Amino acid sequence: RRMTQEIDLGITADMHVHLRDGKMMELVTPTVREGGISIAYIMPNLVPPITKLDKVIEYKQDLEKLAPKTTFLMTFYLSEELTPELIREAALKKAIHGVKCYPAGVTTNSSAGVNPNDFSKFYPVFKAMEENNIVLNLHGEKPSVKGDHEDIHVMNAEPKFLPALEKLHKDFPGLKIVLEHCTTKEAVDLVEKINSERKEGEEVKVAATITAHHLFLTVDSWAGNPINFCKPVAKFPADRRSLVAAATSGKPYFFFGSDSAPHPVHNKARHTGVCAGVYTQSHAIPYLAQVFESQNKLENLHSFVNSGKTFYGIRDEDAKSSDRCVLVKKQSVVPEYITAEGCDQVVPFRAGESLDWSIEW
Ligand code: NCD
Ligand code: DOR
Ligand code: ZN
Ligand code: ZN
Repeated sequence: RRMTQEIDLGITADMHVHLRDGKMMELVTPTVREGGISIAYIMPNLVPPITKLDKVIEYKQDLEKLAPKTTFLMTFYLSEELTPELIREAALKKAIHGVKCYPAGVTTNSSAGVNPNDFSKFYPVFKAMEENNIVLNLHGEKPSVKGDHEDIHVMNAEPKFLPALEKLHKDFPGLKIVLEHCTTKEAVDLVEKINSERKEGEEVKVAATITAHHLFLTVDSWAGNPINFCKPVAKFPADRRSLVAAATSGKPYFFFGSDSAPHPVHNKARHTGVCAGVYTQSHAIPYLAQVFESQNKLENLHSFVNSGKTFYGIRDEDAKSSDRCVLVKKQSVVPEYITAEGCDQVVPFRAGESLDWSIEW
């Protein structure tokens, strides 16, 4: 018998996950583990968004019922309902690990979001986050506002946001900040620059998550195929190359956040009002393995799916299950869609294609 190639990826973490609620939650929550993930960091953009302690605790319990072996790390949605006192209480109770900031109007359920030109009204909340080691998760796109003369569009919204990130880091040097789902060379270069200025032995304060789909997609992939449309949109080939280099680099400030964002296919396959979001959860690690292998960097995949824990101060013992994710060189086929009784169909990324790697626990 020839040995099948296997890689022990340990207690894996996906630091940016959308699990929704209701029937969609029931469908996708078990697929976190199917995709090779042990610890999942959950986004708060439900309707209404999660801004209260009882809601976030209840949401976590609902998720745990659906997937008892998965560890869920929870977040609040940055809004004027948050207070420094609430942050302190939520941190003390370990009810949340971060607060997600959505600029108004840039993506799914972000109409309640904030204006990144002026974060000052949130400074008391950011201060409480800094003091209580609560992470700020930034959706880094500048909204295009009617009447401004900046020519903001989907291709430059992320670079145009970056000065706001630099200012936040300067004003709150102790605050941990993640630039979520970064998609441009400019963003990668800025996170690299900030970390190059870090003193020897000082912990990482500014990091970026990178999705699986942005390692594959460019602008041509979603122009004409709404299944591949997400926010921020996939950019140019040079941007993709920069993301692949960062993700496979083994550097601790670039780690995995899938931004897996399921939508019913009838909200994706339409000629108007297409929902942004690519669903990758059920094959998250096999997609990554495909890219890492193509770069001859499989040895750095462990770092990419473990460094998020270090940044957030999560230890392996904090996970609900000690099961380790093993990547096995065995073909798996992405289904045409996933569904369950009473639930809409969700079309996964690269539906119908075969991948070279599978997951075992
Ligand atoms: C073994 C298998 O598939 O059962 N591999 C193989 O025969 N090529 C598994 C293994 O020994 O790892
Ligand atoms: O494509 C996206 N979909 N980007 C986001 O930031 C939100 C997400 C969603 O919730 O559907
Ligand atoms: Zn986002
Ligand atoms: Zn997201």
